[in-house]
Amino acid sequence: MSDKSRHDAWSAGDSYDRYMGRWSRQVAPRFVEWIGPAAGGDWLEIGCGTGALSAAALARGAPRSLLSIDPSEGFLAKARANVPDPRAEFRLGDAQALPVADASRDVVVSGLVLNFVPDRAKALAEMKRTARRGGTVGYYLWDYPGGGVAFMRAFWVAAAALDAKAADLTEDRRFPFCTRDGVAAMAREAGLAGVEVTAIEVPTVFKDFDDYWEPFTLGAGPAPGYCASLDPQARERLRLRLFETLPRRDDGSIAMTARAWAVKARIE
Ligand SMILES: C[S@@+](CC[C@H](N)C(=O)[O-])C[C@H]1O[C@@H](n2cnc3c(N)ncnc32)[C@H](O)[C@@H]1O
Repeated sequence: MSDKSRHDAWSAGDSYDRYMGRWSRQVAPRFVEWIGPAAGGDWLEIGCGTGALSAAALARGAPRSLLSIDPSEGFLAKARANVPDPRAEFRLGDAQALPVADASRDVVVSGLVLNFVPDRAKALAEMKRTARRGGTVGYYLWDYPGGGVAFMRAFWVAAAALDAKAADLTEDRRFPFCTRDGVAAMAREAGLAGVEVTAIEVPTVFKDFDDYWEPFTLGAGPAPGYCASLDPQARERLRLRLFETLPRRDDGSIAMTARAWAVKARIE
């Protein structure tokens, strides 16, 4: 694990759902509608986490089958509980060596994952390998460099103001390829055809400051992993800084947005 990825804690499903799942669950259906899959396909999903995209695939993609892979047993357990569906199977696996036969899937998708995979090119090659001719490969990644995930950006701006080391951990520095051009280039370099990109933006409205802050204390994901690594005094300084600086509406809520870049492509 690199120094910068040491906070990428992916295991606790409930904590992930509080921090990210509640927002990724809004992106996933929009993505499935945008890729416009034919009904009755065999789907493969990489990095299912707690099942945000799995649920959307089943609800809106009308698949015959869905195999969802993740390296975290904790997340898989949560996904199985969140998405009870006889068409779905949740299995341990790694994006860089998928336990799936060549050309066996009609739709191969991944949501908010590829930036965390050490060898992204290998993961994309695996997505391409497992898709049938004429099939669809699609994925989406947060627009970290464009400041697209405002709640995360606000956290890191406050953290970096108090701790110089935090500046290097921010997702915009770690994942500079998560731009419109960058996500398209990844697909073209993988040899995918007919590459299209769109932005998917969702509202992220926190009902009050605690609703914003509490998920960062739970440890699942890079920013929460960093937050959990702070001693209690440093964590309290960060909490106070955010409390004082985040813009709030009259009712105390904090209204932000999150934007992902989505890609769809064909296998020729
Ligand atoms: C930000 S979460 C996204 C989860 C889910 N797709 C969603 O949209 O909510 C990132 C996921 O990538 C998974 N992941 C990390 N490294 C991976 C790898 N090498 N292969 C497959 N999945 C990986 C993590 O376990 C985690 O579930």
